[in-house]
Amino acid sequence: MKGLILSGGAGKRLRPITHTSAKQLVPIANKPILFYGIEEMAAAGITDIGIVIAPTTGEEIRQAVGDGSQFGVRVTWITQPEPLGLAHCVLIARDFLGDEEFVMYLGDNMLEAGLSAFVQRFVSERAACKAAGGSEPPAAQILLAEVSDPGSFGVAEIAPHGRVVQLVEKPEQPPSNLALVGVYLFDQTIHTAVANIEPSARGELEITDAIDWIINEGHRVDHEVLSGWWIDTGKKDPLLECNRLVLGTFSRRVDGDVCGGSSIEGRVVLESGAKIVDSTVRGPAIIGSGTTVESSEIGPYVSIAADCRISGSEIDNSVVLRRSTVTDIIGLTDSLVGRDTVMSRSAHGDEDRGPTRLSVMVGDHCRVEIG
Ligand code: TTP
Repeated sequence: MKGLILSGGAGKRLRPITHTSAKQLVPIANKPILFYGIEEMAAAGITDIGIVIAPTTGEEIRQAVGDGSQFGVRVTWITQPEPLGLAHCVLIARDFLGDEEFVMYLGDNMLEAGLSAFVQRFVSERAACKAAGGSEPPAAQILLAEVSDPGSFGVAEIAPHGRVVQLVEKPEQPPSNLALVGVYLFDQTIHTAVANIEPSARGELEITDAIDWIINEGHRVDHEVLSGWWIDTGKKDPLLECNRLVLGTFSRRVDGDVCGGSSIEGRVVLESGAKIVDSTVRGPAIIGSGTTVESSEIGPYVSIAADCRISGSEIDNSVVLRRSTVTDIIGLTDSLVGRDTVMSRSAHGDEDRGPTRLSVMVGDHCRVEIG
């Protein structure tokens, strides 16, 4: 079994962050989203992984992942010249995949449940069919999640015997409330499928069309309904929700320095080399190495990456990327702040003004002055 992680794409919904950086490298609890997916694959015993990257952001992803040895996997890089769709990724990964079964994983998705049981079911179901002779093994297995707004997703129609009979993209009249989650298992039938479908109205080769092609050719597509949460982190608010959920699983670990009258409350991870001076940090929260927090109130649900400087500020439910500075900003909430960005209060600001509430998505290398 091989792995294919899709980490190209345009990332339009996470602009301006994605103007300068790959969305799959945005940190959740100070670890790039993509790393969680690679770790899940490694935990499921999949060590031969192809990663699809875009020409623009690919190099940054290659630098971060390296050869994969930090995760105990071997990585093959596959550059997709243009974001022509999820099924196009399978098309260009043909040489890497060969005729092996594989798990395809969207590099900006996160799941609470691991991949092992899902992968194991496909492997054992196929083996059992082959051993029994006669009954057809599944050509694909998809993961579905119950959602309240199926019209915004690819939706599956399931027959009473459990097989998938149809997939429809963003249907007006959804046949079920089961949405397609970004994890798929395929045998080599998918290669014929992606070679036989046409681009959709948005100009992409859709994986839903490819799976539908497999079904229409009379092959078996199985499904599993996900337990636990699943988040497509491609937009700010789901990304912050994911950050909350992951921080919520952490235990307290205070390795950094706590000085002055500071208080560290609850499940806070303070990395070694971080410094908290005259401040309160309320968990769940994580503060990266080399970061200084001074005269501030941080948390809950805040991830501050390494080498930041926060002073005179109040931040909750937010993610701050590396080397950024936040000075004298009260009420920063529900925010995503890029790398090397400076947020401060204008020297001409009204000092006596009451509490404010500020929610932003700011890109890398920005300067934001609040009056
Ligand atoms: P999406 O989030 O569906 O697409 P996108 O990255 O282009 O984002 P947006 O809609 O905001 O512009 O992609 C899911 C994952 O698959 C993500 O990790 C990017 C990756 N991907 C590719 O690698 N190649 C592609 O052609 C597409 C469409 C996505």
